[in-house]
Amino acid sequence: MTELLRDYSLQAAQVPLVAECVIDLEERAVLKERIRQGLGMLGATLVAHYYVDSDIQDLAEETGGLVSDSLEMARFGRDAAAATLIVSGVRFMGETAKILSPEKRVFMPTLQAECSLDIGCPPDEFAAFKAAHADRTVVVYANTSAQVKALSDWVVTSSCALEIVAHLQDQGEKVLWAPDKHLGRYIQEQTKADMILWSGACVVHEEFKAQALLDMKKVYPDAAVLVHPESPASVIEVADAVGSTSAIIRAAGELPNDTFIVATDRGIFHKLKQLNPTKRFIEAPTAGDGATCRSCAHCPWMAMNELRALDRVLRDEAYRRDNEILLDPELGRRAKRPLDRMLAFQTR
Ligand code: 13P
Ligand code: SF4
Repeated sequence: MTELLRDYSLQAAQVPLVAECVIDLEERAVLKERIRQGLGMLGATLVAHYYVDSDIQDLAEETGGLVSDSLEMARFGRDAAAATLIVSGVRFMGETAKILSPEKRVFMPTLQAECSLDIGCPPDEFAAFKAAHADRTVVVYANTSAQVKALSDWVVTSSCALEIVAHLQDQGEKVLWAPDKHLGRYIQEQTKADMILWSGACVVHEEFKAQALLDMKKVYPDAAVLVHPESPASVIEVADAVGSTSAIIRAAGELPNDTFIVATDRGIFHKLKQLNPTKRFIEAPTAGDGATCRSCAHCPWMAMNELRALDRVLRDEAYRRDNEILLDPELGRRAKRPLDRMLAFQTR
């Protein structure tokens, strides 16, 4: 059984425009050098997501940090020796780092970097949802607030959601899922688990259009289609590979095709091209029937992770204080339990 609850889609006004500021090469070089020094002076480790600015991704790797999917960001942040983490991504990623390592100080280039799934799952409404289905095991996507995590039994990311729900299904458990309806539907279809779904969506992935994608496939008949499971079912149907950002990167390396149409945030193209310099990567279309292209395959909140903001959080103490992840310790303890469970499951 899959049941879908009321629509929690965001209003257009709640989604900021992608505001990428153009910085010339000279300034980028200066900023990058200052950031390297700033990380060293603070003794901080930079943990970045595949969707952020390509220079920030490079800086993370060059300085002994990490660029990865959300699951590995969580694991790396937890295991990092540094007492200070700079998390470049969206707020739930910084919160996850703090929940897993309450003793560390966690800063972000800006705390305004949200996520439509997190915004679309307010803790009080989620608590009522949970109370109305008290017999179910509560599984939430990592793209949620600490408050929502604290109400859950399991946290999952798209790297481990299928396996964890399949495991719960084997145990005969019925699942209450939040917040991404597309990922939830995909997992339900794959595992046949009994799931009731919250109805949130990612403003980026929801804009990929199946018909336009099929038209594009006619132009590139030899291309393989790589899709993140936050995309609508009609887009997933066209996919040659479906999975998390790291699964998409793996598939691009393993599949024999030379050309790939990629349905996820275009920030991932940096790593795809770095690892596969001879292959061609094309953005899946966001235009077509019903298109609004508010995000055009780039997350407006990930785009807030600019070099200047990263530089500032390292150099400007007041700005850094304003962009520190602070959590009530008791809330953190409750939110850590389902996260620990996810990380323990992965290492089994
Ligand atoms: P991954 O866990 O696949 O990196 O995805 C995070 C995310 O926010 C996708 O939109
Ligand atoms: Fe959230 Fe979508 Fe942005 Fe990922 S791409 S952080 S799911 S809004």
